[in-house]
Amino acid sequence: MALVGPEPLLNTSPLSVVLGDLRDERAATVPFPPGETRFSLARTRRFAEEPLPMLLEAYQRFGPVFTLRLFHANVVFMLGPAANHHITVSHASNFVWRDSHFRDLIGLMGDGLLTIDGEFHRRSRLIMLPAFHREHIAASVDAIVQETSRALDDFAPGETIDLYAWTRHLALRVAMRALFGVDPDSAQARSIDAAGLFEDALAFYASDYFLRVLRGPFTPWARLQHAARKLDTLIYSEISRRRATGERGSDILSLLLDAQDEDGNTLGDLQIRDQVMTLLFAGHDTTTSTVSFMFHELARHPQILARLLAEQDARLANGQPSAAQLTSGELTQLEMVLDETLRKYPPAWVGPRRSVEAFEFQGHTVPARAFVNYSSWASHHLPDVFPQPEEFQPERFTPEARAALPKGAYVPFGGGSRTCIGMRFGQLEVRTIATLILSRFTLSLPEDFRLEIRQMPTISPKVGLPMLVRPRTPTPLLRLSAAA
Ligand code: HEM
Repeated sequence: MALVGPEPLLNTSPLSVVLGDLRDERAATVPFPPGETRFSLARTRRFAEEPLPMLLEAYQRFGPVFTLRLFHANVVFMLGPAANHHITVSHASNFVWRDSHFRDLIGLMGDGLLTIDGEFHRRSRLIMLPAFHREHIAASVDAIVQETSRALDDFAPGETIDLYAWTRHLALRVAMRALFGVDPDSAQARSIDAAGLFEDALAFYASDYFLRVLRGPFTPWARLQHAARKLDTLIYSEISRRRATGERGSDILSLLLDAQDEDGNTLGDLQIRDQVMTLLFAGHDTTTSTVSFMFHELARHPQILARLLAEQDARLANGQPSAAQLTSGELTQLEMVLDETLRKYPPAWVGPRRSVEAFEFQGHTVPARAFVNYSSWASHHLPDVFPQPEEFQPERFTPEARAALPKGAYVPFGGGSRTCIGMRFGQLEVRTIATLILSRFTLSLPEDFRLEIRQMPTISPKVGLPMLVRPRTPTPLLRLSAAA
């Protein structure tokens, strides 16, 4: 018997969705938290362009729970450690993802783990968890190292590379091999430009709010659908090939094809497609941004870079990391840099939800069926929790400093029963890519480069990340002390 999923949302017309939201809002039995609740095009546009300053300004004016009217609807934001803990852990069952104001993502991913709730989410997660256990993840090290080493052949000393585009291609190849079990060089995988298709599909989420509700030819929605269908051909043909041949490997697709929950329910083709699409998206987009932001900061902080290189000199045998070093995170300087990168730039910057029942939080009421978001990005920039939040300071994440953080303060991977299932895989991938780049090359920014950030719907450098490639400088600490 196939596991039963939720009703499809895709056929719902945007107009009836908007009307439904307005009806829900009018039916509210308790007031929304304070905030800016009048309709405003300017606010809606500014939020799409620069959500972080807007959230921090609203936090200053209204406190940790406030309302912003975005497009047609009131959206409640809850910021800070207590808010994050409330939404993701202590009161998680009062929130659903599927009806959140990111529900458009279902148009690309369908009903994968990210966008489903309740019992279906619980059962699906149980089925998928074994693929993310430590031993299983460790089996991906070789593939990640091979792919990264190979991709590094593109680095030509003296030339400039777009590190964001480079990492995106690499991360998608890794995701295809390790998660999906498909050789990215097979004729079929090469016949589509998966990284380009994801870029096209995700452009929908960077487009103007007003364009997003349009349907029909030449709309952002049509482009998203077109890209999704092309990715579908690859995914469905691999599902049917594996079903027909019985071929299995150590990838997640193999696990999903044979998976059964505690009642013997299995996953149908559509459900497997949705999970694979979700993992391909979540498994490459977030790591790409993390690597990019990390190298942007390292290029601006030579002393932090020097510490990483000294760690490599001291710990790597012949400049090569061992599998154990990559999986365990025992390169402590690198680990602190990774943690601080995810503090300052958490790629999945907002946790979108919808409330089930009305509730109270820190003296304010929030109605039932309200859009409610937590935001790691804004929460990680509250100066009372992370002093001088704009400064890049890896020492915030020494073991002692980390242990002293309040519960819910640091949430780059979310929390509770929806904590990122790919956390270990993502950390392993970023560590591996960063270690191998650092062991061979030094990357610097063009002098006139200024980082701008876009959200699509994860955050990333707006125009890519041009970086000048040089061979790695051999003994940076000696150079530093000689210069001092
Ligand atoms: C640095 C890398 C990553 C970061 C920062 C990250 C962040 C997150 C966050 C914040 C959430 C929770 C969102 C929410 O509360 O609404 C999440 C969920 C999820 N992530 Fe990741 N992620 C990363 C890598 C990955 C990778 C590599 C995969 C797949 C292999 C993945 C798959 C997922 C899935 C399937 C979910 C939904 C989990 C659920 O609801 O049960 N992520 N991720």
